[in-house]
Amino acid sequence: MSLPLVTSLPPGDVRGSFCIEEIPRESALVIFGASGDLTSRKLVPALFSLYGKKRLPQGFFLIGCARSAYREDEFRARLAAALRPQDPPAEELAGFLRCCFYLGGDYQDSGL
Ligand SMILES: NC(=O)c1ccc[n+]([C@@H]2O[C@H](COP(=O)([O-])OP(=O)(O)OC[C@H]3O[C@@H](n4cnc5c(N)ncnc54)[C@H](OP(=O)(O)O)[C@@H]3O)[C@@H](O)[C@H]2O)c1
Repeated sequence: MSLPLVTSLPPGDVRGSFCIEEIPRESALVIFGASGDLTSRKLVPALFSLYGKKRLPQGFFLIGCARSAYREDEFRARLAAALRPQDPPAEELAGFLRCCFYLGGDYQDSGL
């Protein structure tokens, strides 16, 4: 027995046939382990790619968290280094880095 794919829409109505990605409202993303390999090799390149395609929210910002004691500029320099293989346009890279912040501390520390 074959079932119709769409039962509730009139003929010709294509809603439901496509996956429509919605850009979320202003949001912050916290990355725990921001000084680590996963962040550098996977997460930040993926986020930068979304940024370049304008698929991140207008008010997006990223907070990296780990034990290493980075100043904000050091953390941003690490992110820039991680993105070097993508050969990012300077202005786009600068815009992305302005959305990135760092909070150092140990997860065991309740004051973090
Ligand atoms: N790397 C990959 O491609 C990959 C792929 C899939 C899954 N994973 C998983 O993702 C996780 C992270 O992997 P990774 O390769 O990024 O590891 P990693 O390079 O060893 O990085 C670990 C990160 O966690 C931080 N960290 C560890 N203990 C902490 C604590 N007590 N308080 C605050 N920060 C702490 C480290 O900070 P400091 O060094 O600054 O102390 C560092 O930023 C692991 O569970 C791994 O199995 C990784």
